[in-house]
Amino acid sequence: MNYQNSKVQAAAETLRARFNKLQHKPDILKAVELKALYAEIPTLPAEQRSTFGKDINELRAELQQMVDEAEGQVEDLPPIDITAPFDANISQSERPKLFPSETGSRHPLMTELEAVLDIFYRMGFTALESREIDDDFHMFSSLNFPEGHPARDDYDTFMTTQTDKNGKQLIAPAHTSTMQNRALQQYKSNLDKGDPIAVLLPGRVFRNEDLDARHEHTFYQFEGVYVNKGINAGNLLATFKTFLGEYYQQDIEIKSQPFYFPFTEPSFELALSCPFCQKKGCHICSYTGWIELLGMGMIHPNVLRGAGVDPEVYTGFAWGCGLERLVMMKYGIEDIRHFESGKLDFLRQFA
Ligand code: DAH
Repeated sequence: MNYQNSKVQAAAETLRARFNKLQHKPDILKAVELKALYAEIPTLPAEQRSTFGKDINELRAELQQMVDEAEGQVEDLPPIDITAPFDANISQSERPKLFPSETGSRHPLMTELEAVLDIFYRMGFTALESREIDDDFHMFSSLNFPEGHPARDDYDTFMTTQTDKNGKQLIAPAHTSTMQNRALQQYKSNLDKGDPIAVLLPGRVFRNEDLDARHEHTFYQFEGVYVNKGINAGNLLATFKTFLGEYYQQDIEIKSQPFYFPFTEPSFELALSCPFCQKKGCHICSYTGWIELLGMGMIHPNVLRGAGVDPEVYTGFAWGCGLERLVMMKYGIEDIRHFESGKLDFLRQFA
């Protein structure tokens, strides 16, 4: 229906659109727009009042009709059975399961990250969260990747068109090692007091990956950084083995093999005995009993020096561990893509 008066017509369009979104339909009859139109009548010259007033009355009648129709629809719904017994004192497991899917629940990765943090807090670590956009210096240069070095190609990620003050594109970090320089700088005064630098660096990281059951473009890592006088690779392996034992609540065997990272020397790749089958062989460990989990090593002197820590006096270790892989082994999750899928069937199992 169209109204002659353009103000009434404009109000009609606004109110019709609002009506659809209203929960309590009769509220439309109290709309300020309608009141404003009525209030305008006495201000008009006498000869215009009657047509304006007629238009407004028609608009009100239209709205009233919409309300009546909507209320009629409600009456058509089957009545709610209010005789159904509901005992507020029944046990939690017997209550209707309404909440997890209606109000959302905690993502399993955040629950597990908290479990990881809790273990490291008990071991004396503190935590700093990484960033979701970082720069070339933290992603590469501070980690001893020379300009143009082919090792940079192993970390193919996403870049913004925006650039930093050196004209380099900003980066969605491909690892949490971007935080090493910041953590070392922030906590190096601990060393003067004889305390270690002991920091856990959790964060979300991004890679330009071909996606499959073991590879996602977006995932979580937690980096560990520990520096003090006389720290060696034995300390690194013992620390990580202790963590794994606590996380999986069972004795986990580890084995390391040499690897290459520009920011550690020596560098290792660590494998652990499969916590899902206790080395018997299962689909999680591809029937080998072992799972390659993470990279680690002794922090390269250039990385320490770059953050103002003297490598002649102090040594330290670092690792970067993927959170999803750790969690997948705990629960026997077969595909990493479930985590970012938003599938409620998956998430509800952890609610
Ligand atoms: N940043 C490496 C990656 O994501 C993992 C890593 C290796 C981190 C060795 C470290 C390390 O801190 O020492 O591939």
